[in-house]
Amino acid sequence: MNPEERLSQYTREVEEVIRAFLPPEKGYHKTVMEAMNYSMKAGGKRLRPLFMREVYRLFAGSGKDEKQVEPFMAAIEMIHTFSLVHDDLPCMDNDRLRRGQPTTWVAYGYDMAVLAGDALAIYAFETAGRAFSMTKEPQTVGRCMELLARKAGISGMIGGQTVDVELAGRPIDKERLDFIYKLKTGALLEAPMMIGAIMAGAGEEQVKAVEQMASCIGQAFQIQDDILDLTSTTEIIGKPVLSDEKNEKTTYVSLYGMGEAQDAVRRLSGQAKEILKSLPGNHEFLEYLIDMLITREK
Ligand code: IPE
Ligand code: IPE
Ligand code: MG
Ligand code: MG
Ligand code: MG
Repeated sequence: MNPEERLSQYTREVEEVIRAFLPPEKGYHKTVMEAMNYSMKAGGKRLRPLFMREVYRLFAGSGKDEKQVEPFMAAIEMIHTFSLVHDDLPCMDNDRLRRGQPTTWVAYGYDMAVLAGDALAIYAFETAGRAFSMTKEPQTVGRCMELLARKAGISGMIGGQTVDVELAGRPIDKERLDFIYKLKTGALLEAPMMIGAIMAGAGEEQVKAVEQMASCIGQAFQIQDDILDLTSTTEIIGKPVLSDEKNEKTTYVSLYGMGEAQDAVRRLSGQAKEILKSLPGNHEFLEYLIDMLITREK
């Protein structure tokens, strides 16, 4: 299989894993489950669970059962999707299209979108907790759940989103912009890759290296997202273009210019690949995923 074929097969596999963990839509309160599943089933690139499983494979010996990482693969996609559902709300980026369909608040109302986002965030931990009964190392599962909470919460995505919305329409210096990117986007790429490494039994130094690699990938990913906000089309990215301009967001592109931003994506991806070289296992597909950050159009 070449890397493109592998990407489509792996994405299909990840899709199946995610769907297996979605909540059933039943009971008087079924609307909230429908709204959760509406955004979860809309697709998306599924990069975070893909990265998790791939990093797991770098470190896992043959005695390790890959099934034990599946609850976390679904959980990280729930956290990520919750971040998008709330990011699109009228009080945040006020966007009406996501993953090629009306955003959750447009389809289900503002109230239900808030609840669906909250529910996804919490259901992610209920889901991750299922790994306890699938492993011989419950303390490792506990550690990964703590890590997931830390990278999603005030020290991670929510912390970054806080500064992002607070400073909209105001000038931002380089230090704060880096802070935003490392937290709002970097942290939700660090979590899956570190969880993959930890669940597979990687050592402390290796987990640190994975965190640094993922941080570079996350920052490159966000800068590319900013670039696409200006250069792509709604049809291709499945969400509105020029959203940052509309919300008066300072981005890497508005601060440094397009050329510098493209250089930064290349530089950060290069750094990620350098770190990858120090890790064990077969790197071919991970390298392909990292390269995709530079060439991706959506
Ligand atoms: C979008 O993430 C939000 C950012 C962190 C830039 P993705 O581009 O991974 O969104 P999906 O999951 O593919 O829809
Ligand atoms: C979002 O950054 C990052 C999140 C934590 C959700 P953006 O606001 O640029 O993401 P998009 O462009 O709406 O996907
Ligand atoms: Mg935003
Ligand atoms: Mg947004
Ligand atoms: Mg964006």
